[in-house]
Amino acid sequence: MAGMVSELERSWTALRQDVEAALAVRVGPESDCPPKLQEAMAYSLMAGGKRLRPVLVLLACEAVGGDPARAMPAACAVEMVHTYSLIHDDLPAMDDDDFRRGRPTNHKVFGEALAILAGDGLLTRAFEVVAREIHPGDVAAACVAELARASGMIGMVAGQVADLEAEHQPDLTISQLEAIHRRKTGCLLTSSLVMGGLCGGASARETEALSTYGQCLGLAFQITDDLLDIRGDVGIMGKAVQKDAAHGKLTYPKLLGEAGSEAEARRLIEQATSALTIFGDRRQRLEALAQFVLERDH
Ligand code: IPE
Ligand code: IPE
Ligand code: MG
Ligand code: MG
Ligand code: MG
Repeated sequence: MAGMVSELERSWTALRQDVEAALAVRVGPESDCPPKLQEAMAYSLMAGGKRLRPVLVLLACEAVGGDPARAMPAACAVEMVHTYSLIHDDLPAMDDDDFRRGRPTNHKVFGEALAILAGDGLLTRAFEVVAREIHPGDVAAACVAELARASGMIGMVAGQVADLEAEHQPDLTISQLEAIHRRKTGCLLTSSLVMGGLCGGASARETEALSTYGQCLGLAFQITDDLLDIRGDVGIMGKAVQKDAAHGKLTYPKLLGEAGSEAEARRLIEQATSALTIFGDRRQRLEALAQFVLERDH
């Protein structure tokens, strides 16, 4: 497995470089865009980050036998939605964080009003990119619907609301916490895979498999995020640690303990991996990525 992960890391570096270039083009200066707004959008979008979601889009497209280049607009769009969610997540009214992706948070540099608007700008730009650049039109429309559902009032935004509400409800159960994590993090990860599949011409059965993989991976990813908040290194993570307990956040380690959370993440990663069987030899990079999520330190 360690060999598979380092092989993934090599190919991930190449994919990430393509993603960086594709993102830069889509948030470059525009004559009608106020320079401060463009600067604030690019500040957070181009600050690095693992680019996990765009890589998932490209790998899903490849797993169903498609040309990953056709999925690049969807890859950029999901990273823009994710980055907007981070800018807003860090605001004083939400998690009140000062450090993200190795630099001061957006509102620390540009002020709260412009940070909110930079998030709005990234969110709306994402849908413009999908609608204009994905071909044919019916695939673009399907991706717009998928991304909107996954990021909106029954997806990521719903999960963020539930996450904040849970700060004042210490008696929630593990299944209620799971429902929060699935929405705030799992939905966007799953939609990355589904959009990659759509761009690559996935069959209904392949889409179903990608979706199962995404749901298990997404939940495991947020469990490891909760674990890294306890054990992670600020320098490697590029964001503050030990914030969840300070905010009274409901997390997996709080309910299951660290060992119990690790075991749950491992179980989910096994489940994610078994959903990939139908892809035969094309499953390997997604399999290695699942292993990375389990072992990650950032
Ligand atoms: C952080 O996401 C927020 C969560 C949903 C857990 P990532 O860990 O993918 O953050 P970046 O994109 O690498 O900065
Ligand atoms: C963030 O979860 C989820 C979204 C941004 C949708 P967290 O609040 O745990 O993410 P970090 O730890 O600040 O990156
Ligand atoms: Mg949060
Ligand atoms: Mg946060
Ligand atoms: Mg966290």
